[in-house]
Amino acid sequence: MKSNENHELMEKLVSLSKRRGFFFRGSEIYGGLAGFYDYGPLGVSLKKNIEKIWWDMFVDGREDVYGLDAALVMHPQVYQASGHAANFADPMVEDTKTQKRYRADHLMEENGIDVTGLKPEDMNKLIKERGIKSPDGNALGEVMQFNMMFHTFVGANADSESKTYLRPETAQGIFTNYKNVLDSLHPKLPFGIGQIGKSFRNEIAPRDFLFRVREFSQMEVEYFVAPEDWKKHFEHFQKQVWNFVEAVGIDKSKVSELEIADGDRAHYSERTIDFEFQYPFGKKELYGLAYRTDYDLKNHGEVSKTDLSYFDEEKKERFIPHVIEPSFGVERTLLAVLTSAYSEDEVNGETRVFLKFKPEVAPYQYAVFPLLKNKPELIEKAKEVYAQIKKSGARVIFDDNGSIGKRYRRQDEIGTPYCVTIDFESLDDQCVTVRDRDTGEQKRVKIVEL
Ligand code: GAP
Repeated sequence: MKSNENHELMEKLVSLSKRRGFFFRGSEIYGGLAGFYDYGPLGVSLKKNIEKIWWDMFVDGREDVYGLDAALVMHPQVYQASGHAANFADPMVEDTKTQKRYRADHLMEENGIDVTGLKPEDMNKLIKERGIKSPDGNALGEVMQFNMMFHTFVGANADSESKTYLRPETAQGIFTNYKNVLDSLHPKLPFGIGQIGKSFRNEIAPRDFLFRVREFSQMEVEYFVAPEDWKKHFEHFQKQVWNFVEAVGIDKSKVSELEIADGDRAHYSERTIDFEFQYPFGKKELYGLAYRTDYDLKNHGEVSKTDLSYFDEEKKERFIPHVIEPSFGVERTLLAVLTSAYSEDEVNGETRVFLKFKPEVAPYQYAVFPLLKNKPELIEKAKEVYAQIKKSGARVIFDDNGSIGKRYRRQDEIGTPYCVTIDFESLDDQCVTVRDRDTGEQKRVKIVEL
């Protein structure tokens, strides 16, 4: 796709999302708040369906992973131990005239510079050498490291004693509860703890719709293993990431793996693979898979003065488990699913927009229509069919607004796979017309067989 087509696709996704009630800008009636989005009725359904697929695949569907839901606000020492207080920073640079702040690495990339492995001092040198200016054409100041954690105060005193942070990753809540799970359920290695929840990052430059936001959800597993086994488990989760990509309907041909080089990995990781997706605005990180060694448990053990070792009964050995972490962002999944699903074709000389969601992720799996709005007997029968489908546990919507053609278009645009129409014949033969979203094919089906 050419870049203007990509730009157009992005605009279409943003506009459809708002128009049809998927996502809205946060605090929109006050002009919006950069980096925050609210989920509308369809967005929340899409999100929950995706989270359910993840939970079934990574927690409930496995014998060796336990669920958790930890608090968003944790003790400040958690972030001393995890290294986030010292290391969780992005390079920032200021326009010397307007005082607007930018991601230094993003500005450099936009100027065609490969930033792999560059430290802030290297960036400073290159910015000067190449004469890189701010987007407003002004000189840039020195590159500084900006810590991305949002801070807050706990209790009535706003002092250094009460200062802590909103979690920047769900992972730390898992590490701080590792011993609780070990002591309460007594799992044997290897085992994992999985969690879905909000994370917060005060991104310098939130952008690209849902891609880089300041409040988002993560789905993470910390999988605890014997140190010598890490490779085997890393490879297992590498496959599982691909399985998840397929399960939610992300176009696999747009996903690729990137081995992250030494020096570019997060402070805790000894091996990282990024799974990248070809978004309309470029190829960018979708998910991460990291080998976190014993970095987190060792540091939490030392700082909290708690024994976080594991005793292997068979080997009669005591050690700190190592960790494999597959980490999935919900918003990046939603954007990849939307991008993959967006389709257009031509019907009767007009462009038809439809979202090819898998039935498992679609906000509604069925839409039920009475052929005509003003015929009580049709409405009654359609309501009966609607109730029957709803009772079965499927997600279903009732629609009697406008012509059938308009109703089809509306459902196509929100990705409903099946539209069920009740007509006068249905009253006699107890059959309905089921129309397939992708092919437009219509079939007569017995109501009892729906
Ligand atoms: N616990 C590991 C961790 O947090 P990360 O690569 O910093 O690693 C994991 O984040 C995933 O979280 C990313 O692959 C992405 O899907 C999502 N993510 C990170 N920052 C994000 C942001 N600002 N907006 C939306 N999603 C984000």
